[in-house]
Amino acid sequence: MGLVGIRVIVFDVYGTLFDVHSVFQKCDELFPGHGREISSRWREKQLEYSFIRQMIGSYRPFDEMTRDSLRYTCEQLGVNLSAEKERELLLAYLSLSPYEEVAQVLEQLARNSYKLAVLSNGSPSMLYPLIEHTGYNRLLDDVISVDDVKQYKPSPQAYTYGLDRLRCRREEVLFLSSNTWDITGASTSGFRTVWVNRKHGVFDHLGVQPDASISDLRELSGVIKT
Ligand code: LAC
Repeated sequence: MGLVGIRVIVFDVYGTLFDVHSVFQKCDELFPGHGREISSRWREKQLEYSFIRQMIGSYRPFDEMTRDSLRYTCEQLGVNLSAEKERELLLAYLSLSPYEEVAQVLEQLARNSYKLAVLSNGSPSMLYPLIEHTGYNRLLDDVISVDDVKQYKPSPQAYTYGLDRLRCRREEVLFLSSNTWDITGASTSGFRTVWVNRKHGVFDHLGVQPDASISDLRELSGVIKT
């Protein structure tokens, strides 16, 4: 099954291109034995804060919520987060590990003249260092942060902003994310979507399904011409 007419490919960032749990090594170094728990609870609370703030109309940039969710997580686990440890952990978020196939797939898609972009809830202060750290800015035509419109994904406004920035039609866009809530949001906003099911999970029961599911970006060749 192929999706035709795709000219623009838009990626989510955290969890899709970069492994947010690669920060666990630093967590474990600073809080031995607590690394994995801090990393997973931190990500859950970070996302929860973005959903709550979007719903109550109290937007704060993603870097602040990443800090606030880290503070919550350490307090909840009863570990002492000194200012220095907080600084080190937030810095680690600017150099997360990319998934191993990302560079080769982005290069292949760029060679095939697709317009490539990321659309992320991350604030510019988080996204630009992360993207430049890996050199992906060479391959991406745009790095789009929802901070410009202060509306978090999965709100429709966030995806519409991405479309405006890319100056293309919905039917030309293929949106990829590992986050099911993000796929649900993009699909509901009329995008064609591919769920990057890296953890072999199940999809949400929210009445929406992705157009295709892959386990890593190399399988995109089975969905579109790459
Ligand atoms: C992103 C994360 C929140 O938008 O999935 O990159």
